[in-house]
Amino acid sequence: MRDTPAPGMAAEPLVRVSALSKRYATQAGEDIHALEDVSIDLVDGEFVAVLGPSGCGKTTLLKILAGIELHDHGEVLFKGKPFNGAQTGTGVVFQTPVLLPWLTVLQNVVLPIRVLGLSLPQGTARARELLELVGLKGFENKYPVELSGGMQQRAAIVRGLIHDPRILLMDEPFGALDALTRERMNVELQRIWLVNKKTVFFITHSVSEAAFLADRVIVMSPRPGTIVDEVKVPFARPRDIDLTSSADFGRLTTHLRHKLGSHESAHD
Ligand SMILES: Nc1ncnc2c1ncn2[C@@H]1O[C@H](COP(=O)(O)OP(=O)(O)OP(=O)(O)O)[C@@H](O)[C@H]1O
Ligand SMILES: [Mg+2]
Repeated sequence: MRDTPAPGMAAEPLVRVSALSKRYATQAGEDIHALEDVSIDLVDGEFVAVLGPSGCGKTTLLKILAGIELHDHGEVLFKGKPFNGAQTGTGVVFQTPVLLPWLTVLQNVVLPIRVLGLSLPQGTARARELLELVGLKGFENKYPVELSGGMQQRAAIVRGLIHDPRILLMDEPFGALDALTRERMNVELQRIWLVNKKTVFFITHSVSEAAFLADRVIVMSPRPGTIVDEVKVPFARPRDIDLTSSADFGRLTTHLRHKLGSHESAHD
């Protein structure tokens, strides 16, 4: 039996993940215990970052939230109702931009509009606005190969936002970028988020990226992934990249590194 949040102004989480667990059976007959007893609430408009060692089940959790992987036990509720299957309420940005090479930037970005059968003229107008917002005005008719990695990733972010999802799920979206581009993308993403105010679930290996971007950072243990810590990030927004050299920021990242253990300590 689970408490039902009171109706009205009570802050019901947009997404509630309770006691989630997941095992994979591999083709070799192994039993991989990926997630154990994971519970997370995502509040509407909140930016949540997830840190955890490689293989601890972060992508598995994101796929369950996206409706592209099933869980074994526990419950995922969206606005208090069971969450079933892929749905229009989520946008996903993967680690690699996965743009289709034979489509232009604009055609790639409006793909979810076509797949979901939404209005193409409206979707195209929104695509142009969002592409301008991420600095890709003038690149609408280019092909992915003509763009840098960072530009492709920005196009992929626009594609994740194009159908106006309530939740944006991002799986290490900047993992493949060089440090400077990554920093710029962090500032850019914060700007986009401040304009759009989506609920963001952001997976990263970078402690400083998590602390810079998030309202709340969740730290996971090695596999089977469980939550070992949850930290509220107190810094005011908009955050400037200089924040990352402040003593308060240093204390927070030291704490997060400590919670992560030795696995990620040398990362950034
Ligand atoms: N389809 C699958 N079949 C079998 N095992 C899987 C499958 N997908 C993931 N796994 C295993 O489940 C565990 C968790 O994988 P997952 O991809 O969720 O980890 P992760 O935290 O995202 O790792 P990384 O940080 O390296 O991306 C790993 O041990 C992985 O090998
Ligand atoms: Mg992963």
